[in-house]
Amino acid sequence: MKKITIKTASDIALIKYWGKKDEVLRLPENGSVSIKLDGLDTVTTVEFREDLSKDHITIQGESDNKETARVVKHLDRIRKQFGKDVYAKVVSQNTFPKGTGLSSSGSGFAALTFAATKSLEMNLSEKELSILSRQGSGTACRCACGGFVEWLDGDTSETSYSHSIQSPDFWDVRDVVVVVDEGKKKISSTEGHTLAQSSPFYSERQKRIKGKIEEIKGYIENKEFDKMGMLAEKEALEFHTILLTSETPMIAWYPGTVEVMQEVVRLREEGISCYFTINTGFNVHVLTLPEYEKQVQERMMALSSVQKVLLAKVGDKPQEVNEHLF
Ligand code: DP6
Repeated sequence: MKKITIKTASDIALIKYWGKKDEVLRLPENGSVSIKLDGLDTVTTVEFREDLSKDHITIQGESDNKETARVVKHLDRIRKQFGKDVYAKVVSQNTFPKGTGLSSSGSGFAALTFAATKSLEMNLSEKELSILSRQGSGTACRCACGGFVEWLDGDTSETSYSHSIQSPDFWDVRDVVVVVDEGKKKISSTEGHTLAQSSPFYSERQKRIKGKIEEIKGYIENKEFDKMGMLAEKEALEFHTILLTSETPMIAWYPGTVEVMQEVVRLREEGISCYFTINTGFNVHVLTLPEYEKQVQERMMALSSVQKVLLAKVGDKPQEVNEHLF
């Protein structure tokens, strides 16, 4: 049992995972496609030790909360697969604010899965790591892979996993992450998923989602940025339509979120290629190309509601690093 530290990039979904057909196994209603985000990372150190009688978890300096309980549950899953009750010390840090809708659970549970199984020398394949990560958090299934990633919906645990459709160096796409608030988001994704089917528009979304996945994969393959960006932006608006029309409605946006969305449209009218997408939070991901990144960043920083901007490139799969957190 070794002390292992893993760094994992989070991701941004172009076609979103929303709704589950199995809540316990976290089998999604539909497949999804994302880009890993180098620059918005989680670093996690895990050490299993025979002398511990329970797990000791610290996430962003905090212990004993809802999130650390979810980590213990995931360690239980890993212990079951390992076949022995041994406990761990876990310390995890993000390079970006957690709880702001920037998918910290995805990078968090992928980093945890990789570090814990490596610490126990379980020797799992990329597919097995993706399947195990998925059970901690759906988006972690994608974060287990690198570059441009597709999560196959699957009807069973064994068939619901992610694979890389293109490596990180295939295409230099940038994500300017615009933070309008650093407070905790009001919508829990895990709870939100259970309401998806209550929207009258959800069944319509499901009818078209396979086609959208094929379409976006084609745009990635051919490096058609404007087509990819426009489809991702429309998908984000459709996803928020589902949120807004669920029973109970979920309004994720803040005034600043709308200000950023409108600025993105204005930038496009001026010939700057950029497109927004938003998860269940209020902060906005603005997808762009390297030649426009600086201008997008400056224009976003000039908006009254913008607190900060984080820059991300296409990220890799989880990597082992030598600097431990304890
Ligand atoms: C809106 O992965 O956070 O970001 O599986 O319950 O942990 P759990 O949910 P989570 O869902 C987030 C979904 C989304 C869209 C996406 O990233 O695909």
